[in-house]
Amino acid sequence: MTCVIKGQTLTFSAEGALRHEERGAVVVGDDGVILWCGPQPLLPQAFRQVETHDHGRMIVMPGFIDAHIHFPQYRMLAAPAKDLMDWLTRFTFPEESRYAAKDYADRSATVFLNRLHAHGTTAALVFCSVHKVCAQALFEAADARGMALITGKTMMDRNAIPAVEDDPETGARESAELYQAWHGKRRLRYAVTPRFAITSSDAQLRLSGELLASLDGALMQTHLSESAGEIAMVGRLFPWAKDYTDVYDHFGLLGPRSLFAHGIHLSERECTRLSESGSAVVHCPTSNTFLGSGLMSMPHLSKPERPVALGLATDVGGGTSYSMLATMAEAYKVQMLVGYKPSAADLFRMATRGNAKRLRMDHETGALELGKFADLVVLDPCATPVLASRQEVSASLEDVLFSLMMLGDDRAVAATYVKGRKVFERITP
Ligand code: GUN
Ligand code: ZN
Repeated sequence: MTCVIKGQTLTFSAEGALRHEERGAVVVGDDGVILWCGPQPLLPQAFRQVETHDHGRMIVMPGFIDAHIHFPQYRMLAAPAKDLMDWLTRFTFPEESRYAAKDYADRSATVFLNRLHAHGTTAALVFCSVHKVCAQALFEAADARGMALITGKTMMDRNAIPAVEDDPETGARESAELYQAWHGKRRLRYAVTPRFAITSSDAQLRLSGELLASLDGALMQTHLSESAGEIAMVGRLFPWAKDYTDVYDHFGLLGPRSLFAHGIHLSERECTRLSESGSAVVHCPTSNTFLGSGLMSMPHLSKPERPVALGLATDVGGGTSYSMLATMAEAYKVQMLVGYKPSAADLFRMATRGNAKRLRMDHETGALELGKFADLVVLDPCATPVLASRQEVSASLEDVLFSLMMLGDDRAVAATYVKGRKVFERITP
């Protein structure tokens, strides 16, 4: 049924300009697609009698898009470890081994997607475990909610524990089967998912490159240059490589459909290769500070002579929050520590239209525009006592957004819509 969603609307144009209506309206058709948006006084007569959700002074904007998150780590946030490798071995691999059981994966998928919606996230690029049933469970659950979601079976055939290892042939066959079953079905797509260079043999990385080349439209996700210990181990495992990026390059894994999480310690040469191949790096600030991995520098990656496309993500459970607001706040702090001061608008843009572009879903989501699905979050700039008093002194829209990002989290999410259907609503006491 057609409905109208009203509030203070905010979105970014294709050129990156912030568009804002104090009293805006979004009209959503039966199929969840935006039919009209603009200022309330100009709402066409035909939409004045339809069902209306009026959010008053709250901000109605495109739902957040998380460009890197791990489904089977949904409950193991805040696991204290010495560093990345220690964290993977002691906490992560044992937890992911539970996803061999489909019923466990099904139950977890419900909790995971509910949690994304409660944090205002409407679309994501997601890591699953090594088990085919894990990806199946997540595809089924996301499909039932009409979400835009990209995932894949993780491939890892060494340096883990047997319960979460596959072998190159099984990994490639199951990936291709999942692609056939799910890629392009409604709003779902497949990502070829070798975990990282440490947990894949040469044979598996070679097959991953072949999959990426042969599976039309599939994305590729992995990890790159996150921690010092990891980089040293990659050097030992691939002594012929020029650097970490060269390992992936050698196996055909760079390109415009490839997303690399972290990219903290990249050299000039690596940035140049990532840039010229059209690959993207996904900044995961709460994970990087939590695991002590280092400070990723956006200005270093964005140098105008060799700009690397950037995304932004929670990286739960290495990341410590599902909230893209909290993630933007941590990104701000990390960038301040490397001498760069992003604006709130820059970070809101990254978390919405920017990530939609990185995930190649900008034709269908990430902005309030005709023809896109109405994937929306409603944010309350006065959600907490601290936020409410801060807004008394906010001097501009940028200031409202800045304080919302720095002080907000899931408490600021009043409602979430996927395809114009309310999938979450905050119960206020
Ligand atoms: N590198 C390889 N696997 C992982 C993971 O699960 N989380 C993070 N943060 N880094 C990784
Ligand atoms: Zn990760």
